Amino acid sequence: MSDNKVILNYDGNAYEYPIVDSTIGDRGIDISKLRDQTGLITLDLGYKNTGATISEITYLDGDNGELYYRGYPIEQIAEKSNFTEVMYLLLNGSLPTTEQFAGFEKGIKKYNFVADEMKRLIDVFPRSAHPMGVLSSLTSALTAFNPKAVDVNSKEDMDHAAEMLIAKFSHLCAWTYRKKMGLPINHGDDSLNYVENFYKMCFRRPNQEFHLDSTVVNALEKLLILHADHEQNCSTSTVRMVGSAHTGLFASVSAGISALWGPLHGGANQAVIEMLEMIENDGGDVAKYVEKAKNKEDNFRLMGFGHRVYKNFDPRATIIKKAADDILNSLGIEDKALDIARQLERVALEDDYFVSRKLYPNVDFYSGIIYRALGIPTEMFTVMFALGRLPGWISQWKEMRLHNDPIGRPRQVYQGSAKRDYVDISAR
Ligand code: SDX
Repeated sequence: MSDNKVILNYDGNAYEYPIVDSTIGDRGIDISKLRDQTGLITLDLGYKNTGATISEITYLDGDNGELYYRGYPIEQIAEKSNFTEVMYLLLNGSLPTTEQFAGFEKGIKKYNFVADEMKRLIDVFPRSAHPMGVLSSLTSALTAFNPKAVDVNSKEDMDHAAEMLIAKFSHLCAWTYRKKMGLPINHGDDSLNYVENFYKMCFRRPNQEFHLDSTVVNALEKLLILHADHEQNCSTSTVRMVGSAHTGLFASVSAGISALWGPLHGGANQAVIEMLEMIENDGGDVAKYVEKAKNKEDNFRLMGFGHRVYKNFDPRATIIKKAADDILNSLGIEDKALDIARQLERVALEDDYFVSRKLYPNVDFYSGIIYRALGIPTEMFTVMFALGRLPGWISQWKEMRLHNDPIGRPRQVYQGSAKRDYVDISAR
C-alpha cells in the first residue's frame, strides 16, 4: 500500500503534505499549504511534473501508449463511435442512449446557421491570412452576436452555449476554408449529420451537384474523434486558464485556438507536411534531415516526432497511420510525402538519438497526409485539429467552472534586480 502523504524536511522542520489519489495514473502531492508553512514555492518549467486540476474527462498513459475518453479506450471509440457521440460523451460523461443522442443532435441543429453579419467579417480578411488567425477572430466575434452565451453560470446555460458553439464552429471552420480557396461560403444542411454537414459546407461547388463521398466522411469522422481531447495539453490549459477568470466560453476557446496554432503544438501537422515537402524538394535525402534534427547547433526538429507525455508511442498515430494507408489506397493516390514519412519513421526509430529520448511519431505526423489526400490545403490542417479539439476544450472549460476551480495565478522565482532607487536621466 503506497503512502498517503509525503514529508518535506526543510530548515530543521518536517512538513507533511497529503497525497491526492487517482483512479488510474499519477497521484498528486497537495502542496496548497507549502508556501504558508515553508515560504517555499515549487518551480517546474512547462509544468512537466505539475497537475493543474483534478479531471474526470480524459486519461492517457504515456509509457504504455493508452488514451481513454471517459474511460473508453481510443481504439474502441475510433472504431465504433462517431464524432457527435464522442462530443456527447466528453461533455456529459457517458455514452448517450438513442433518445439522448437524438436530443443532442437536435440541440446542435437548432443553431446550424451563423449570423449574416459574420459573412461581412470574413470578407474583410485578405485571402492570404492564415486560417488559424481568421478562426480565432471569428470565434471571438461570435460573442458579439450571441451575448447570452457569454456569461453562463448554470450547467444548463453552459450546455446551451456548448451546443451553440459546436454548431457554429463547424461553419466558421468551413468558411475559413472557403475563404482560403476563394470560394463562396455555404450554409448548413439540417438533413445531414455533423461531419457530413461540415464536409458539404467545405466542398460543395455552386455549379455542381454535391456528392457525399463516404470514404472521405469516414476519414474525417475518425480524424476528428482522434483529436477530440487530450488532458491538460497547451491549448486546453489555455482555455482553462482564460475561463478560470470567468471569461465566456467563446472567448476562452478563441484563446485556445491561438495556443493550438503554435508549431510545437497543433501547428505541427502543417509543419510536418512542409518538412516532408522540403525533404522531397531537396532530393528526398531523409538521412540528411535526421542528422540535422540530431545536431544541437541546428534548430531543425523532426516535426511530428516527440511528445511531452507519450514516451513509447502515440496510440492516435498508430490509428491515423493505418487510416492514411486506407484512404490513399481507396482514393488511388500515390503520395511521395507518405513514402518520405515512412522512411523518416523507419530511420528515426532505429537511431539511438530518438530511441534514447523516446521520440516517436505523434498524432500530427500522419494526419497531414490524410488532409492533403482530401484536398485540404496545408494551412487548413490546424483548423481541422481545432474542429476536432473543440469538444475537449468545451468539456474541460465546463468541468473547470462546475468544479469552481479558482482563478489561475501561478507564482515565480524572481531573479531580477534587487530594490534600487530611481536615477534621473541627467545623472545616468
Ligand atoms: C501535440 O500535449 C499534448 O497532448 C499535445 C497534443 C494534443 O493532442 O494536444 O498531443 C498535440 O502538440 C503533439 C506534439 C506536436 N509537436 C511536434 O511534433 C513538434 C516537434 N516535437 C517537439 O518540439 C517536442 O517533442 C515536443 C514539444 C512535442 C515535446 O517537447 P518536450 O516534452 O518539452 O521535450 P523537450 O523539448 O524537452 O525535448 C527532450 C529532448 C531534447 O534533446 P536534449 O536536450 O535532451 O538533448 O528531445 C529532443 C530535444 O532537443 N527533441 C527533439 C524533438 N523533440 C524533442 N529532437 C529532434 N526532433 C524533435 N521533434
